[in-house]
Amino acid sequence: MYSQSAPAKINLALDVLGPRPDGYHEMRMVMQSVSLQDQVTIREMPEGFRLLVMDLPEGVKTLEQRAAEAFFAVLGRPVPGLEVRLEKRTPAYAGLGGGSADVAAVLRLLREMYCPEMDPAELEAIGLTVGSDVPFCVRGGAALAEGRGERLTDLPPLPPCWLVIAKPAFDLPTPEMFRRLHSRTPSDGPDVNGMAGALRKGDLHSAAACMGNVFESVLEPPEQREVLYIKNTLCRFGALNAVMSGSGPSVVGIFAHKEDASAALDDLRNVCQTAALAQPMGRLI
Ligand code: C5P
Repeated sequence: MYSQSAPAKINLALDVLGPRPDGYHEMRMVMQSVSLQDQVTIREMPEGFRLLVMDLPEGVKTLEQRAAEAFFAVLGRPVPGLEVRLEKRTPAYAGLGGGSADVAAVLRLLREMYCPEMDPAELEAIGLTVGSDVPFCVRGGAALAEGRGERLTDLPPLPPCWLVIAKPAFDLPTPEMFRRLHSRTPSDGPDVNGMAGALRKGDLHSAAACMGNVFESVLEPPEQREVLYIKNTLCRFGALNAVMSGSGPSVVGIFAHKEDASAALDDLRNVCQTAALAQPMGRLI
């Protein structure tokens, strides 16, 4: 039996440059993996593919299976019987890459079990066939992500700090959030280069100052009210800054002090669907 953690990702800065001919969008973002994580366990079975998970959202099952099929297609051998068990802690459809993180952990485990010599870049390429965020989730740490999100340049992780990650009680479908951007009046996006520079300098305060997410500009008024309420609460408790992650609706606040982060967490637990304390993590592979 093989087991690995599947750390969620947050977007410290996220800009969408425009639509691409392939139907995706050209991205520029700084991603960071965090210690809010699922646990993924795989064991061989005589035959078939079985995914065991509590409260499995529709559609998630096929991603793990598709990843396994893509992995063994590259190896040129049939998919063995596999049982994948997910212990979920990261909320799904939340902008935290929960589903991508699980798929990425499945791929890291399959590499460990069947092909330890496989180049991590090849594993990331297999991940891209399943989802745009999967290559980053395979690698972890912090990175500037471009293209669909798969062109990764490693960055030093955020300097030691505390993160409060809170998800309001509504979901935002990613394709719909990308569509909303098309009717938006173009304006300056977040300072993605500034964020990359701040991480390279190890400067937590400038990193906090560069946090931004273009998807916040296309929230509908009721969604915006909830996201703003969480951001304001985080800042009231001493967050250096707060930003929505990915296509939302989760919000991340960065704190220099654990006591402030814990106080914010206690407050937000009462009003959010989920709220968690986390720390930035380094590379996983
Ligand atoms: O790649 P993934 O399947 O995770 O993407 C989910 C959806 O998000 C895509 O179907 C697409 O609508 C949108 N997307 C995009 N451009 C990206 C990544 C995702 O338009 N770079």
